[in-house]
Amino acid sequence: MGKIIGLVNQKGGAGKSSLTNALSHEFARRGYRVLVVDYDPQGTQTMLFGFNRLSEFVDTEHDITGIFEGKDVKPVNIGENLDLIPSNQGLREEAESGRMGKELVLANFLKGGFGKKGMAEDYDVVFIDSPADSGALTVGTIAASDYILIPTRLTFVDSTGLVGTLQTVIQAVMTFRLDLSILGFIPVAYKPRLKEHNDVLASLKQTIPQILERHDFIKVASKELFLEPVKDRIAWAEAAGKRISIREYIEKEKKAQRDIILTIENITDEIIRRTMLPEGAVV
Ligand SMILES: Nc1ncnc2c1ncn2[C@@H]1O[C@H](COP(=O)(O)OP(=O)(O)OP(=O)(O)O)[C@@H](O)[C@H]1O
Ligand SMILES: [Mg+2]
Repeated sequence: MGKIIGLVNQKGGAGKSSLTNALSHEFARRGYRVLVVDYDPQGTQTMLFGFNRLSEFVDTEHDITGIFEGKDVKPVNIGENLDLIPSNQGLREEAESGRMGKELVLANFLKGGFGKKGMAEDYDVVFIDSPADSGALTVGTIAASDYILIPTRLTFVDSTGLVGTLQTVIQAVMTFRLDLSILGFIPVAYKPRLKEHNDVLASLKQTIPQILERHDFIKVASKELFLEPVKDRIAWAEAAGKRISIREYIEKEKKAQRDIILTIENITDEIIRRTMLPEGAVV
């Protein structure tokens, strides 16, 4: 069964989709079999993978809303070792429905049980990209995850959003008796020379451990909660605009910015260590 990593932050624009995209490409490049679930009705991840019309998947075998009917939704192949379950607007309706246990639907789909095989069994790593709220899809992402990865920007506003996100994780763990670990926090769009960013980072490094200590049933994958920051670079938006991975964009057009690729490689190495995935290509 693949390790399931949910990227959550209820604040918009935190870097969930960009990081999910970069990490999924990097794991696939290294030979891990990767599945990405776009669990955000906005469909940013689906678009980052080059699909501009989300409606093209509605009522097909790839329609993610099928998981709410217990159907075997088929992933779309993106490239070698890389599959996507694309999003569409129907996901919003499912999230708002009165369906019993809607927060556990993705967990059941990925992990299986009751005589059904889980989709995660066919992969080494599964990334879930979640929406910017604390609703059923975000809680569903948390409930399906073995590990929670929390990207965050470093303004004061973002730091308050981060505490809210952590409370949602804690609440979900208690409500659904989840067995998950916090994989880490990733500062995104970091400006090393900006005082606000450094002040917020320092303050988060103090307050987050305090919150976690008060809820000692929440496991952490490492004592060092923060992973390497991803610096503020326009290349991220440019790569997104071209619908190509950050690595492909930099290797083709921005060779001077190879440090971005290095950061993604370092974060990937650290995730492999923290999740105890086998090192190197698994195939
Ligand atoms: N390191 C970075 N430096 C500068 N811009 C970045 C960086 N990472 C991401 N961005 C840009 O920030 C914007 C928001 O990023 P992204 O869509 O990944 O966030 P998100 O958390 O998924 O947002 P949402 O909550 O809307 O789903 C995008 O335009 C993206 O290109
Ligand atoms: Mg997003």
